[in-house]
Amino acid sequence: MRLQLLTFLSATVLLGASAQSGPLTFDPQSFTEQTLVMPDGHEVTYLAFEGIQYVTNVENPTYQTLNFYIPKHHQHDQKVPILLRTYVGGYAAAQARRPSPTDATGRALREGYAVCIPGSRGRNSTTVNPSGETIYDGVAPAGLLDLKAAVRYLHYNDALMAGDATRIFTDGTSAGGAMSALLGTTGNNPAYQEVLQAMGAAPAADDVYASICYCPITDLNHADMEYEWLYGCTNTGVRALDEAQIAVSDALAAECPAYINSLGLKSPDGNAVTSVNYKDYLKTFLIASAERALQEGCAIADGIGIQIYQQTTEFPGTPIGPMGPMGPMGGPGGPGGPGGPAPIAPVAPTPMQFTPPTFVTSDYVSGIDLDTYLSYVASVTPLKTPPAFDAYGVIGDRATPENQLFGNAAGDPNNFTDYSLRQRTGNPEATLSPEMTARVDMMNPMTHIGDGVSTTAQYWYIRHGALDRDTSFLVPINLATKLYNNGQEVDVFLPWNRPHSGDYNLDDLFGWIKKVKD
Ligand code: DHB
Repeated sequence: MRLQLLTFLSATVLLGASAQSGPLTFDPQSFTEQTLVMPDGHEVTYLAFEGIQYVTNVENPTYQTLNFYIPKHHQHDQKVPILLRTYVGGYAAAQARRPSPTDATGRALREGYAVCIPGSRGRNSTTVNPSGETIYDGVAPAGLLDLKAAVRYLHYNDALMAGDATRIFTDGTSAGGAMSALLGTTGNNPAYQEVLQAMGAAPAADDVYASICYCPITDLNHADMEYEWLYGCTNTGVRALDEAQIAVSDALAAECPAYINSLGLKSPDGNAVTSVNYKDYLKTFLIASAERALQEGCAIADGIGIQIYQQTTEFPGTPIGPMGPMGPMGGPGGPGGPGGPAPIAPVAPTPMQFTPPTFVTSDYVSGIDLDTYLSYVASVTPLKTPPAFDAYGVIGDRATPENQLFGNAAGDPNNFTDYSLRQRTGNPEATLSPEMTARVDMMNPMTHIGDGVSTTAQYWYIRHGALDRDTSFLVPINLATKLYNNGQEVDVFLPWNRPHSGDYNLDDLFGWIKKVKD
């Protein structure tokens, strides 16, 4: 199946590439020159190709365009990676933007890479139809389809554009992180083909090389149970839920173990990760986060559940030769020094001297009290109330951005889990319609990993702040682990003290890009 699909796609790509004269053909002459001043004062001059329509049947011209940028000194370079940055947030529509000197787009240009910033429709984008009715044109999966169409545009025009469409790195934060994960997991999946074709997307591949996902708000149809299963320990403490809320929280949490077990995850050391040992697995990520912070000199507050062990290491006295204590002999890594070869006898006539033994005290993170730590997270930013995502009609009629994402063309919100649908309708047998199930699956990257019909990005950079409570830690960890188990190369970390945010620590990100790009 996979082979057949790839054969079909390569044929269409080739056909597309040999018929480069239609409306989706890139015009290499149509650019302006722009300059970005980086925070350090460095100026990057680049060619800007803006307002490019990436589908032929444009429904919403405000959003269905992309911008493309290439540093001037790389304008003929077909080999550099392309950073595709989506600014989707809150599952809302996002326009194509210009690069920013303070995020990954500016940094990518500084590194000599190409940048693509596509716009896409979202839960709040509307158009007016010929009868004068307002149509919500960006409900799921429209925004994802727009982004996939933008990827197709890059593949279709690869020979005409600078940058290498086989080296697309998608990047986004939060709902944008979810979109990045979806682009990385749904490449060339035939389930999207019919609609993409109807939209007038280019007949080309839509897989990507790598995905950068900051705090992806994803796995939406399981996110409620994952949230309550993790944070339920705070319900009568810092979260201060009322009785009705606790009942909802408990019911959702009870669904989570079966879901965790259904994933069949394995930790990197090969052990099965189940609902029984999951919290220990999660602890390894949080301990690694606190440990790195500690080693980098960050103070970790008392009373937040992080257990710190003080260890004292004795370094035995070392002989000091003619070059003195700062010379190679006796210095770290040098002869006689810690980690160095055996001391060499000093050259006469310098009298032999010895440094006394030294004691070095260092701290390391030895454990974590998870419930205390989760209460700390909840004390910094109040948790969402249950259900955190599919809230519509469960306790009141509050509709979340996710309820609107799965809403209809008239702008009415919808449920996207059986649990909340049953609560809202009062029918304990209610289930999502096949149409809604298909929409929910299309918006869930977990569904597509290892499905046999999607081309999965091989490289993944996943970050979720250790203070980020917008979704449960299970979401990024399950995503990373499932990808890893499927053979992808995954760099995942929960940065210490970091709330819900993205495009931080750009040195780390671009170090990673440099490492994996070839
Ligand atoms: C975003 C944040 C959320 O908490 C959420 O539920 C959906 C989206 C965001 O920042 O994009």
